[in-house]
Amino acid sequence: MELTKKIKKLLKEKNAVLMAHYYQIPEIQDIADYVGDSLELAQKAVDIDAKIILFCGVHFMAETAKIINPKTKVIIPDMEAGCSLADSCPAGEFKKFKEKYPKHKVISYINCTADIKTMTDVVCTSGNAIKIVESFPKDEKLIFAPDKNLGEYINRQTGRNMILWDGVCKVHDLLKNKAVVKLKAKNSKAKLLAHPECNAAVLELADFIGSTAQMLKYAKKSNSKKNIIASETGLLHQMKKDSPEKEFIVVPADETCSCNNCEYMKKNTLQKVYDCLKNEKPEIILDKNTIKKAKKPIKKMLKISRNLNLIK
Ligand code: 13P
Ligand code: SF4
Repeated sequence: MELTKKIKKLLKEKNAVLMAHYYQIPEIQDIADYVGDSLELAQKAVDIDAKIILFCGVHFMAETAKIINPKTKVIIPDMEAGCSLADSCPAGEFKKFKEKYPKHKVISYINCTADIKTMTDVVCTSGNAIKIVESFPKDEKLIFAPDKNLGEYINRQTGRNMILWDGVCKVHDLLKNKAVVKLKAKNSKAKLLAHPECNAAVLELADFIGSTAQMLKYAKKSNSKKNIIASETGLLHQMKKDSPEKEFIVVPADETCSCNNCEYMKKNTLQKVYDCLKNEKPEIILDKNTIKKAKKPIKKMLKISRNLNLIK
């Protein structure tokens, strides 16, 4: 039997739900019960009523699902599927950093560990970051961690002066404005869609800046037949599915590479998905206290997002 069929059969037998981020390989996206960006997946995980969540994304995403749905067993195909942003912000160092600013509230980008979330007032994703920041009074002192590019973008958009942790997504930060300018010159009518994890020089050239789901929505609705994408390649699978008549060109990470894959997201393969489901491991294990503390800022984010109609 084909591996995809075997996975689907096992999902049913084990009362398991497969959740996948848009950066997963197309074969995984196509068999997932839910595909989404970080915000959509966090929101969806709240309502999952199954024995197992098989999370195909990276570690912090699976951890988030466990925090908001602790009764469900959460498994992940590869424990090594990390994230350069989460790795940039170790709990001990962040604790010391936070102590330097005792009057500041902390907004954490969801791309961080559960331990960082326990030291956070509100979590945000790229889909709601500006609104979450704006939900604080204008004069509130704020720390934003761990994505410096996203933090700088929010500071520019809102006129705030948040203190920023110095972390980057190594996939998006590598994209250079030179490569974008070259592509724009070759494709003069193309629109540039960029993820806010990109550096400021790239964002300055963008026609649209948004989270993964927001870029997908824009690409589907827009009249533009040619689109340049400053983000991860996995996104193109859904874009092409939604609009087969449109052309999507991904900004290359460097001269030798025509695509940018997140090495962590791409650790998951169909074979690992099958093995993980069959053996019900590796499993995300978190202690009760961490879950209790990390849940608060995530729930707060979901509440603010619901009130602002950003999610249902
Ligand atoms: P979003 O899913 O919020 O767009 O984030 C992109 C990303 O880099 C996930 O790791
Ligand atoms: Fe982390 Fe960037 Fe990979 Fe997303 S794309 S998981 S932010 S390294």
